[in-house]
Amino acid sequence: MCGIVGYIGRQQACPILIDGLKRLEYRGYDSAGIAVLDGDGIDVRRSVGKLASLERMLENCPPTGCVGVGHTRWATHGRPSDENAHPHSDCNGGITVVHNGIIENYMELKNRLAAGGHVFTSETDTEVAAHLIESHYSGDLTEAVRLACRELDGSFALVVVARDEPDRIVAARRHSPLVIGLGDGEQFLGSDVAAFLKYTRRAIYTDDDSITVVTREGISMMDLDGNAVEKDVSNIDWDAGMAERGGYEHFMLKEIHEQPRALRETMRGRLSLENDRVELPGLNVTDDEIRNIDRIVMIACGTAYHASMAGKYAIEALCRIPVEIDFASELRYRNPIVDEHTLGIVISQSGETLDTVVGLREAKQKGAKIVAVTNVVGSMAARESDGVLYTYAGPEIAVASTKAYTTQLMALYLIALYFAQVRGTLDENCARRLRDALWELPGQAELILNDYSDLIDVAQHYYCYNGFLYMARGINLASALEGALKIKEISYMHAEGYAAGEMKHGPIAMIDPTFATVAVAVQSKTYDKMLGNIREVKARSGDVIAIANTHDQVINDYADRVLRVPETEELFSPVLVAVPLQLMAYFVAKGRGPAIDQPRNLAKTVTVE
Ligand code: G6P
Repeated sequence: MCGIVGYIGRQQACPILIDGLKRLEYRGYDSAGIAVLDGDGIDVRRSVGKLASLERMLENCPPTGCVGVGHTRWATHGRPSDENAHPHSDCNGGITVVHNGIIENYMELKNRLAAGGHVFTSETDTEVAAHLIESHYSGDLTEAVRLACRELDGSFALVVVARDEPDRIVAARRHSPLVIGLGDGEQFLGSDVAAFLKYTRRAIYTDDDSITVVTREGISMMDLDGNAVEKDVSNIDWDAGMAERGGYEHFMLKEIHEQPRALRETMRGRLSLENDRVELPGLNVTDDEIRNIDRIVMIACGTAYHASMAGKYAIEALCRIPVEIDFASELRYRNPIVDEHTLGIVISQSGETLDTVVGLREAKQKGAKIVAVTNVVGSMAARESDGVLYTYAGPEIAVASTKAYTTQLMALYLIALYFAQVRGTLDENCARRLRDALWELPGQAELILNDYSDLIDVAQHYYCYNGFLYMARGINLASALEGALKIKEISYMHAEGYAAGEMKHGPIAMIDPTFATVAVAVQSKTYDKMLGNIREVKARSGDVIAIANTHDQVINDYADRVLRVPETEELFSPVLVAVPLQLMAYFVAKGRGPAIDQPRNLAKTVTVE
């Protein structure tokens, strides 16, 4: 949550900071602010609301100077307001801080500092950091930040400037992300690389409990005891254009359209039809370990959790390994049964979701080997896991996840096929049929995206309804939950996903002509049962939109409207079903008018518990 940026160089800092914040706005948009060192002092400008209101405020008199920091906020401590907006400063405005994370002992520190005469002007935990650094400051910002960090509990990425040391930015982090972008005579800081990709692709991912001193000439790092730390430079292969809207009205629509490419990228080098094999270099799990796994625990939140639901079906069906899935926020508090024969699979687009990362640590500490399925190279999940399977979706900017979800599904299918190959749980004909089907998925997703004018008509019909019920069976239960989540996130409409067989135990009571049912009825073992469930809804005056296969004529007699997807293996159908569900959510939201890429109250990367 919250995005932070920093710049030190020879260019004007203000436009670079604003540009960086635009790319991080997905992390929060309750308020925004920047601070620029202007030679005399630190010029702080802040505004409640989205970045656009800060931009309007700066239009006629932007701060000048070549060193600065910036912040876009997702409120945790203190409501969204000008006063609570970052940056925050110490008593005399000599030290200014932006922060992402939560300082858990801030009340205790605040009371102590206030008793010592420090005056606070906001309700935030961040302001405490500014005053704490001030209390340790005697002409050496790096030392003051280091000493302050030793007193902080919780999570933080802090970027700090001091009026009296205009040649440096000092950064520190624990559990919240912070990346340094290396330029020539200039350096950048950001919560993720999107903040500075336009300027450099050379990046250093900072460690937990590290302090980084950033000057125009370069950087130096130390741990909290003051010992020097060396870090490798990573070359980022995303380019800045990938984080642009590219002619689409919203990032979400662009990202939906990017799915065929993203799916192909995620398969590339891993699924080879010529060699009749799946290869997963980087997974770092030996064949013996795969044979000895007696259970898998998947750890994820939000959309990634829905991917894990589908992953469970696929792995259990193909590898016969029991799979347990759990919301990361629940897993960690219930003393999960995990040991050295357990494989933990952590699924996270950002690789930074705090609940997921803490769940990872919990499983690891209990002896499990951990594999991360993540989209962000060098993210915490990637760094802390034993092996990584990257989803090559490219940057996902819209808060509502689309291409990250389908590429997570792809990654989990590849794991399922790979484990089945090693454990010998599939006969070769069946394995070949599945590999062939997987290979076809990107092209089939492309077919859906080539023409969906019917779907837009359907969405236009339904956007004034009171809500949606999504029902499905088997592996597509994940699709039902994900479809409902998409609508909720961006339309603010009531929607729920349900196992179709459970309808009769409650949800069917909600059916009326203004409450539409989306029924996933692609070819499957339970197709006939789904038809029965659709009949039950129709018998109660419900209105049904079915997601069915291209050549299915039977469905026409059951549903009011039908959205078509090409036929594939049942196990892989969630990838194709996701596309019309995402488009439905998008066009329903468009009809209703909320901010699609930045829905209210949400943030893309949730680094709070
Ligand atoms: C937030 C986002 C969701 C995402 C979830 C998990 O809630 O809005 O789209 O699925 O976090 O994020 P992760 O980065 O761990 O996949």
